[in-house]
Parts: sequence; structure tokens; C-alpha cells
Amino acid sequence: MREEGGLRVSPFSRREFLYLASVLPFVCSPSAWAAQRKAQTGSGTWQQTLGVLGRAYQAEMTAHEHYVGYTQKALEEELGNVAYLFHAFSISEKVHAENYQLILKGLGTEVERAVVRLQIADSRTNLRRSAIKELEKIKSLYPDFLRELEGESHEDAIVSCMYSWKSHRQHEQKIKELTKYKGFFVRAAVSRIERVKLDFHICMVCGATLDREPTSPCDICNRSLANYRKVEAPA
Ligand SMILES: [Fe+2]
Ligand SMILES: [Fe+2]
Repeated sequence: MREEGGLRVSPFSRREFLYLASVLPFVCSPSAWAAQRKAQTGSGTWQQTLGVLGRAYQAEMTAHEHYVGYTQKALEEELGNVAYLFHAFSISEKVHAENYQLILKGLGTEVERAVVRLQIADSRTNLRRSAIKELEKIKSLYPDFLRELEGESHEDAIVSCMYSWKSHRQHEQKIKELTKYKGFFVRAAVSRIERVKLDFHICMVCGATLDREPTSPCDICNRSLANYRKVEAPA
């Protein structure tokens, strides 16, 4: 998302939107989606869309703030790779939140950050909690948001939600593995993370997060390599 001359400029081409619309039926009924889009595009109120975007913004900011706290805790515990992982996720979540904020601004709504009590524990607990939260987003939060957006079919809102959802899904398998560890075994999972070589890069358009240097355009938003930012390990 970007702004030019005070006007919001959609970063999504029509071709990209059509592509994303073609995968939307995984969460929405295609016929209902098409019919409602035709009926309601241009309604000008976007009440439901504003509600979803507001909740999505708060959810992503809450995740961002937790990851910032988790990073700090991991550094205190001298778990460099865990801190690096949390730091990369914190940046990705911020990209998602800012995308929603920008769409809301374009719709004339300034969103205020809600006050949230952060729950920061030890790194092993933080890792397990974050894995559970990520799975919630993948399995229920984003599919629900997309179903709700179906009614008004605001193009940028749907595309932005799809980007966030797909970016979270990039690590679904790894996250599932993490949630299997309990008690003593979480320690083993942390040790494993600490042994691998990580080199995080984040697409600043959609929040896609890679743990290696990208060699091709973003898998999620299809933007060029130039949109990736290398994430430096926190100190
Ligand atoms: Fe996110
Ligand atoms: Fe991307």
C-alpha cells in the first residue's frame, strides 16, 4: 500500500485481484460472492468492511506488540535465533496492520490503537503461545474475516486480508510442529531453532516472511525482489 499526493493508490493490479478472487472460493461460495459483489459495489457505506478492517488492524497490532515483547525476552534469555524469529514476525505483523490502517484512512476512518495488556512469559511459553495464536489466525480468524468481507466486496480489503492470511499460512507446517511440543520437549524445540541458520527477509507489500534470501518475486503478492527487506538480527 502507498499514498501519493494524499490519495491512496491501490498496489494491486486488476490481474492480481482476479487471481486472488479465483482462490477466494476456498473460503467463500463463488456464486454468492459474485452476486453480492455486483449488487453492492459502490454502495459507498462499507460498514461491514470498516468493522472487519478495524478488528484486523487491532489483531495484527496486538500480535506485533507481543512479538516485540517476545523478542526482548528471548534476548534476555540469550536465545538469539528465537529472538530473531520473533523480531521478523513482529515486522511482518506491522506490515499487515499498516495495510489495514491505510485502507481505513482511504475510507475516511482514523483507527485508534486499543489498549491491550500484553502477556509476555518465558521464551518457551511465548513460542508455544505464538504458535497457537498463529494457527487460530490461519484456521478461523482470517477465513471469518474473508467471509464477512464477501458482502461488500471491497477490493483492497479482500486482497489485503488474503495477503495476510497467505503470509501466515507460509509457516503453517512449522507452527503445527511447534504446538506438538509440551513441557520438556519445548526445550528441545528451542534448541533446534537455535542450531539452524536463519536469514529472514520480509516482503514489505504483503508481509511474506522467508527464512532465506529470496531468489524470485514474492509468492504471495507477486511483487519483485526489490520489495523484500532483509531483517537484521536484533541485538
Ligand atoms: Fe499478520
Ligand atoms: Fe509480497
